[in-house]
Amino acid sequence: MTIIRAHDYAEMSAKAAELITAQLLLKPDCVLGLATGSTPLGIYDALARKVAAGSLSFARARSINLDEYVGLSASDRQSYAYFMRENLFKKVDFADGANNIPNGVSTDVDAECARYDSLVERLGGIDLQLLGLGPNGHIGFNEPSDAFEPNTHLVELTENTIAANARFFGEGEHQPTRALTIGVRAIMQAKTVLLAVSGEAKANALRGALFGPITPRLPASILQLHPRLFVVADDAAMSAIDR
Ligand code: GLP
Repeated sequence: MTIIRAHDYAEMSAKAAELITAQLLLKPDCVLGLATGSTPLGIYDALARKVAAGSLSFARARSINLDEYVGLSASDRQSYAYFMRENLFKKVDFADGANNIPNGVSTDVDAECARYDSLVERLGGIDLQLLGLGPNGHIGFNEPSDAFEPNTHLVELTENTIAANARFFGEGEHQPTRALTIGVRAIMQAKTVLLAVSGEAKANALRGALFGPITPRLPASILQLHPRLFVVADDAAMSAIDR
């Protein structure tokens, strides 16, 4: 594991964006595993600025997103498909059809999960997987549970996660309580994993993930077994480890 430390969110974002840039330069036709949430926003912004400046291109890359809310279509403003379009895809130069995200309104959830896993396989796996960290240690929407789930699956979100993500939903706006998420196998089989973490609210989860027991009760702890894990974290996120 390599820990790259940053002073604050801006520096964390810049450093994580450099790692993704290096991946794209080394292998322009790479498969990027992408994440949602507030953490990657600064990273996506830095990448979009590089594309606008002409120093980076996604033209040959493909992407696979981690997760999607059940019940939200790609046109719903609260869907992760919408989030990705607004915050990255429309600002960079991916080719049409290069971006993949689970279908949250599929009528056959099992078939959709199987389709997503075979898609990852068909693309040859993920070269670089970007991850945020849930305050309860979730990655993607792999929530704390009794066993690690290897495959893409349907999740009942925990109260903790629903509360943590409530800030994204306006008053009266329906907040889904279920999601489809890629499982830990595709994440662990990614050639490189980049865990981006910012803020005090993640400090305990980060300490547990990196230095606690490996347990499905704190899903990110499985990353300790990954042979090429980069953690980019700011001072606030590192504060529990420092103590
Ligand atoms: C959501 C996403 C995760 C993300 C997490 C952290 O639950 N499914 O992939 O890592 O939120 O979000 P944030 O970066 O907003 O703290």
